[in-house]
Amino acid sequence: MFLRKNDLWRVKFCFKVQESGHQRVLPGISHHVCPSLTRSCFFTFSALEMSKAGALDLASGLGGKIEKDDVLSAVDKYEKYHASFGGLDEERKANYTDMVNKYYDLATSFYEYGWGESFHFAPRWKGESLRESIKRHEHFLALQLGLKPGQKVLDVGCGIGGPLREIARFSSTSVTGLNNNEYQITRGKTLNRVAGVEQTCSFEKADFMKMPFPENSFDAVYAIEATCHAPDAVGCYKEIYRVLKPGQSFAAYEWCMTDAFDQNNRDHLKIKAEIELGDGLPDIRSTSQCLAALKEAGFEVIWEKDLAKDSPLPWYLPLDTSHFSLNSFRLTAIGRFFTKNMVMALEYVGLAPKGSQRVQSFLEKAAEGLVAGGKKEIFTPMYFFLARKPQ
Ligand SMILES: C[S@@+](CC[C@H](N)C(=O)[O-])C[C@H]1O[C@@H](n2cnc3c(N)ncnc32)[C@H](O)[C@@H]1O
Repeated sequence: MFLRKNDLWRVKFCFKVQESGHQRVLPGISHHVCPSLTRSCFFTFSALEMSKAGALDLASGLGGKIEKDDVLSAVDKYEKYHASFGGLDEERKANYTDMVNKYYDLATSFYEYGWGESFHFAPRWKGESLRESIKRHEHFLALQLGLKPGQKVLDVGCGIGGPLREIARFSSTSVTGLNNNEYQITRGKTLNRVAGVEQTCSFEKADFMKMPFPENSFDAVYAIEATCHAPDAVGCYKEIYRVLKPGQSFAAYEWCMTDAFDQNNRDHLKIKAEIELGDGLPDIRSTSQCLAALKEAGFEVIWEKDLAKDSPLPWYLPLDTSHFSLNSFRLTAIGRFFTKNMVMALEYVGLAPKGSQRVQSFLEKAAEGLVAGGKKEIFTPMYFFLARKPQ
């Protein structure tokens, strides 16, 4: 039953959105929808039926802290930082705060909608769901750091706090999340309240290149797929070194180009540029650059490894359009098709700001770049290291 041409139909809906443990009701949004609404909109509303809360949360969060009328121009500015739009590495590094914050204001709602509360990949075992693998990957960091009940831990670049809440509960520690994005912190505080962890989990809005903590403050520090946003790895690791207590450990999952990446291969460079554009990155470093930066910052490296190498299932599987999974349906080709059309309709009826479709398209490019980078093994989002600040 597709819409017939010239149908003028009225969509009346009243969504009850579960958020923060309270019911938020958007009553009687009523629209005369013009005849140009096509078959894709039918899919769109089918998608809304499937997940009302997710769809409206996605729409209401789009643009983050950016004024809704300014979203389109923010997308323009963001894209212009990147190589595919003529931008230079040096400009991205010099303006990293603006570039990264614009990215997360624009992309966070999509991340949360498609990925959940933790914004990272994970190695995956057969029979394991994406959610299970993500939690296991977080537990692995806690175990490597040897976290003990009552310890004070820092999460560098904490997103909306999915890993922080999991690690605090898993290890009975107190975790401070450091993040430079105001919108993500607002979401994180809400989610902390919902999870009932606000006594042991907190957020600090600051740049990880200039941390607002005295030296020797933390018993352990970790970073999950976050320090890749730093314009300078040595500067960022030195800040981590400074706030960590002597004899204590720092562990991370870094986004890196692997040894298979060839600077002179145009295909490789295109993939790298797609990942940078789609993920708000200034310039993806190689695994050896990260290792050298850790040592230069003063750390003793205990062990390091690209965990993608022995993952039984590839980490990029959820984004691979040839793969289908009901568990992570929104990330599949059909799920993404629904999302694309849903965003188009939400933007059309004014529930999502203008520019939302453009964000969806560069995230789509990112997914393509990540899958291509993963398949060619020139890119990894899980270069793991455990490093210690000497006594
Ligand atoms: C891919 S997200 C990962 C978030 C989180 N670690 C997780 O796994 O859910 C990267 C995070 O780094 C944060 N970030 C990027 N640059 C930052 C900076 N200069 N200072 C503090 N946080 C930053 C972003 O705001 C975002 O929250």
